[in-house]
Amino acid sequence: MLVQRIDRREWRAHEKLPSIRQLALEMKVHRLTVFKAFQMLKQQNKVYVKDKTGYYVQSGIAPSEFADEPLVNAYPRQNLLSALQSAVVDYHLTQALIDPSLLPNQYFSAYVKKVFDLYPKVLSTYAPVEGDSELRESLARYFARTCGTYVSSEQLLITTGAQQAIHLVAQSFLKPRDTVMLERPSYSAAIDTFRGQGAHIVTVDITESGYDMDAVEAAMRTYKPRLFYINPTFHNPTGAVVPASQRKRLVELADRYRCLIIEDDTYPDIYFGSKPVPPVYTFDTAESVIYIRSFCKYVSPGLRIAAMICPPALMSTLVTAKSLADNGSPLLNQKIFLHYFESERLQQHFDKLRIALQIRKEVMEEELSRTDWQWVSPGGGLNLWVQLPAGQDVSRLLAAALERSVAFVPGSYFDPDNRASTHIRLSYSYLNESRLREGIRRLVEAGNGNS
Ligand SMILES: Cc1ncc(COP(=O)(O)O)c(C=O)c1O
Repeated sequence: MLVQRIDRREWRAHEKLPSIRQLALEMKVHRLTVFKAFQMLKQQNKVYVKDKTGYYVQSGIAPSEFADEPLVNAYPRQNLLSALQSAVVDYHLTQALIDPSLLPNQYFSAYVKKVFDLYPKVLSTYAPVEGDSELRESLARYFARTCGTYVSSEQLLITTGAQQAIHLVAQSFLKPRDTVMLERPSYSAAIDTFRGQGAHIVTVDITESGYDMDAVEAAMRTYKPRLFYINPTFHNPTGAVVPASQRKRLVELADRYRCLIIEDDTYPDIYFGSKPVPPVYTFDTAESVIYIRSFCKYVSPGLRIAAMICPPALMSTLVTAKSLADNGSPLLNQKIFLHYFESERLQQHFDKLRIALQIRKEVMEEELSRTDWQWVSPGGGLNLWVQLPAGQDVSRLLAAALERSVAFVPGSYFDPDNRASTHIRLSYSYLNESRLREGIRRLVEAGNGNS
């Protein structure tokens, strides 16, 4: 209906649309329905968001009798989380992203200059598809130093974020109806990627104590999944860390049942107490693990640098997939990252960042301690996984929170089985302390009116 109204030019180009609340009242629908419609219009490029003040009509929309019929219907794809993250609110608790003011911005212009001085033709050439050789060698040394593993730089593939690595895996190893095993809950965009590839999904639960390894074995034996995608260190969204004994057994099972493990390690350096246990790939002796390590979150999301450690037998398949995706990640980004990564500043940055994030986590926990909501305090990562008490309905809470300009992620977004959830994910990494306090206060107020 909104599409037709835009096509009918009810609002002119660049005119602000009425608020979600107004439209919901006017059209006698729930506010969430309007919110979803706005997200769809945004995806279809019919509206855009400006300065967080609201939704505006895009210019140059040609109305036609087929206005809402694309020339070719796309195969359905979704990215639930990113739709919610683009909601226009003042207090985003949806962003498992680090506050940009905590990142080393002040140094990057110097590194950009240094890179142009050292490699004047850096923008005049493609990078090798598998990644810059200097960066791959540097990362091989880094993994030897930090994980005690010998990894040849030939086994390293640089990707444009962990998200691309997950996508390359899905493209390379899955055909529709192949079985994929996922943790429940699981990182939402990974679920969407595997679903988008037509995979049949089976799940095993992950809790604060890791997996029930007998359940993992039973699932591998019964369903024979081609791969098991895991995020075992400061798991998103639960914050869980899978213990070393389970990591060891997991690689044994993977070898026995011929199931490829895809280990997504996006948060290992964000720990608040002791360092987490070594990655699953370090226990692997049978080349059963592809390891994905992102450096986006806490160095520079904008550079989009991640690395995969690939068993040699799988490397060429992944390099081909990478070449078909983008012919290699931008060389400039890789070189800027390399020079920062090799500097002493990286360690100093980590030390400060861990303290800043721990403080923010504690601020969030302090505010939530006034409620009967429950969570296990994570030893690292960016999120609290909060269990709401009986009587709190998550969608009603989200609607009430959006009305107070606060957004969080409902637990169901992380459920590969699409079951109803009484959990919500609150990220403490994006807002500063005072905004975090205010955001949580508003959320709790929304909850008080909701129960
Ligand atoms: C578990 C997990 N994997 C992958 C990603 C994507 O990371 P990147 O920015 O490296 O693409 C995220 C981002 O939230 C994540 O939480």
